[in-house]
Amino acid sequence: MSYNLLKGKRGIIFGALNDKSIAWKVAERAVEEGAIITLSNTPVAVRMGDTEVLGKKLNAEILPADATNVEDLEMVFTKSMEILGGKIDFVLHSIGMSPNVRKKRTYDDLDYDMLHKTLDISAISFHKMLQVARKLDAIETSGSVLALTYVAAQRVFYGYNDMSDAKALLESITRSFGYIYGRDKGVRVNTISQSPTMTTAGSGVKGMMELLDFSERMAPIGNADADDAADYCVVMFSDLTRKVTMQNLYNDGGFSSMGMSLKAMKQYTKEDDESKLTD
Ligand SMILES: NC(=O)c1ccc[n+]([C@@H]2O[C@H](COP(=O)([O-])OP(=O)(O)OC[C@H]3O[C@@H](n4cnc5c(N)ncnc54)[C@H](O)[C@@H]3O)[C@@H](O)[C@H]2O)c1
Repeated sequence: MSYNLLKGKRGIIFGALNDKSIAWKVAERAVEEGAIITLSNTPVAVRMGDTEVLGKKLNAEILPADATNVEDLEMVFTKSMEILGGKIDFVLHSIGMSPNVRKKRTYDDLDYDMLHKTLDISAISFHKMLQVARKLDAIETSGSVLALTYVAAQRVFYGYNDMSDAKALLESITRSFGYIYGRDKGVRVNTISQSPTMTTAGSGVKGMMELLDFSERMAPIGNADADDAADYCVVMFSDLTRKVTMQNLYNDGGFSSMGMSLKAMKQYTKEDDESKLTD
């Protein structure tokens, strides 16, 4: 159902690889809500993934770019303004990758060149995006910029590895740049901290199935899926959240406020004793 929340707005969505991607769902929902958008992903992802399928479906131009490359980002913002016919109202950074995770290097045996890549791709690219946009004055007053993050920035999650550090940096950049961009241009900068979600990046996380099951048991209203993330992003891009900035916003069914739930407790209770457990 459409509420026309983004009617007439112009957006850039980074990171739609295939129909499992969170960015894919956000792009679909944004257009459904009346926005016009451009899509961006790495040249390799555009070649190997399904970004073009989404582009055709949504009538959105694709601008291949490496988000760690400042010139590429300048091209994306400049061309997007040309294509969409004006300044940009919203941007989604839905980008993450750790070569250490890919190469199965554990946190106590990190390759430091790879760590730099993790931080550059998954966090510093957000700073680059914001800095490029501000220098080009590419974002409309009270525009909205979002990045996706995970609760492993605050708490330790076995196997999340150097992505935890990347997410902590991403959230810090959100606050630091959010201050400057808000003060100067009224632009909002926030992160959405999403439940574990079965995507290409998600399936690379160690023990993803167990993580999904654990957070589903802990969260009183269950895990948020990619469609839930898309709904939240649309609200954050809309004029309904004009005063929300520099926040890390949880979209996780309540997981982040929990310590132990009945459903999780039952996992550790012998069958005979289960009847003794109540609310
Ligand atoms: N899936 C989860 O469980 C989960 C949970 C919380 C947060 N997130 C975050 O959501 C975001 C999107 O991930 P997803 O789960 O939809 O997976 P995904 O694999 O569909 O998306 C990751 C995207 O990052 C892109 N990317 C990688 N390197 C890039 C670069 N140098 N320049 C530009 N793009 C690059 C990939 O091409 C891909 O499109 C990530 O930041 C991820 O950490 C995911």
